[in-house]
Amino acid sequence: MSPDAQTPPTPQPPPTPTVWRRGASFQEMWRDLLPVGRSPGGGYRRHAWTSADAECRAWFREQAEARGLTYEVDRNGNQWAWLGDEEAGDAVVTGSHLDSVPDGGAFDGPLGVVSAFAALDELHERGTRPVRPLAVVNFCDEEGARFGPACVGSRLATGALTAEQARALRDADGVTLPEAMERAGHDPDAIGADPRRLARVGAFVELHVEQGRFLAEAPGDHPVGVASAIWPHGRWRFDFHGEANHAGTTRLEDRRDPMLTYANTVLAARKKARLAGALATFGKVAVEPNGVNAIASLVRGWLDSRAPDEETLAAVVAEVERAAVERGARDGVRVTVVRESFAPVVEFDHALRDRLAARLGGAPVLPTGAGHDAGVLSAVVPTAMLHVRNPTGVSHSPAETATEDDCAAGVRALVAVLEDLACR
Ligand code: GLV
Ligand code: MN
Ligand code: MN
Repeated sequence: MSPDAQTPPTPQPPPTPTVWRRGASFQEMWRDLLPVGRSPGGGYRRHAWTSADAECRAWFREQAEARGLTYEVDRNGNQWAWLGDEEAGDAVVTGSHLDSVPDGGAFDGPLGVVSAFAALDELHERGTRPVRPLAVVNFCDEEGARFGPACVGSRLATGALTAEQARALRDADGVTLPEAMERAGHDPDAIGADPRRLARVGAFVELHVEQGRFLAEAPGDHPVGVASAIWPHGRWRFDFHGEANHAGTTRLEDRRDPMLTYANTVLAARKKARLAGALATFGKVAVEPNGVNAIASLVRGWLDSRAPDEETLAAVVAEVERAAVERGARDGVRVTVVRESFAPVVEFDHALRDRLAARLGGAPVLPTGAGHDAGVLSAVVPTAMLHVRNPTGVSHSPAETATEDDCAAGVRALVAVLEDLACR
């Protein structure tokens, strides 16, 4: 039977004493992960519950076991590696995700997981012994590249995404999330809110490559910053229903071409976002029947929109929808809009943020437009983020990068934070 929030705790055997060892170096771990799920163009396709994802997950397990950490997979497929008694509570947890966007970079996600293991090794090396349980986590399906919504593993855990909603998700080939999980060896009947596991966590710190140029452009030399907030953001699916017809014989005035309405909506989204100081992106599109000499019957476009506050975000999306519907009326195209996911504004825990910034000698504090598991967890756990400088700011692209020196500075910063939070 799968556990749920109401089930009383089943008696557990006493935890096996952990024999904590050092593991592979940062460089070795990085090298091991580098070829996994890499496409010929150099980008990564590590989508949830695929074979590339399975390789990443096997890598995580190996890292945990090589260090003598207690490895576990929670009901939603998130992987944990525990140092100390995982049931004791008030744990300090660090980590990130290993999945990627289509043709993503090597750093978004993996940097946080590799740095977490490397930071544990450094504590070991220094002879520092935590007084609180410490854990490394890999949250599954953070990017939502396969099934739509982002942060599926952490959202299921907090209850922000219900098991019922998750079970209804399908990928582009019609494979449901439960089918994909089952094929990958995870029991989909178990998914759902996991308050007991999250109650073990006293603080979560996610290290992440910066996805902008704030640190690169900040005066002075700052390889690491602390996050202040995440802009509210969401994903909306726009369906433009037209009429398939012959590209060579249908007079322009007889057409109901959804591509026109879509194209106009892309331009409208850009303009509305610019006027509101927000962001709006149509980065994914699917066309039916997708033939070069056929007018499309359906264009499906996904809008990703983000803004400094929820009111602005709601207004931008409403205006884009209005523009689509108005243009659709002129084109003979019916427009429907479905919100696929939404993340409210996140203000990271102020006390934790300030403590980290002070511990790091006055590290810059920066907001971000990118979503993270840390943002999801912040609803239930004091949460903070460290950002590692990205010299170009490019992310969600194979060109995403951070220098070796800055990655090392990220590990040192994480060590200082873990020492402060878990070792005194
Ligand atoms: C995740 O990287 C997102 O912000 O979309
Ligand atoms: Mn990302
Ligand atoms: Mn990420």
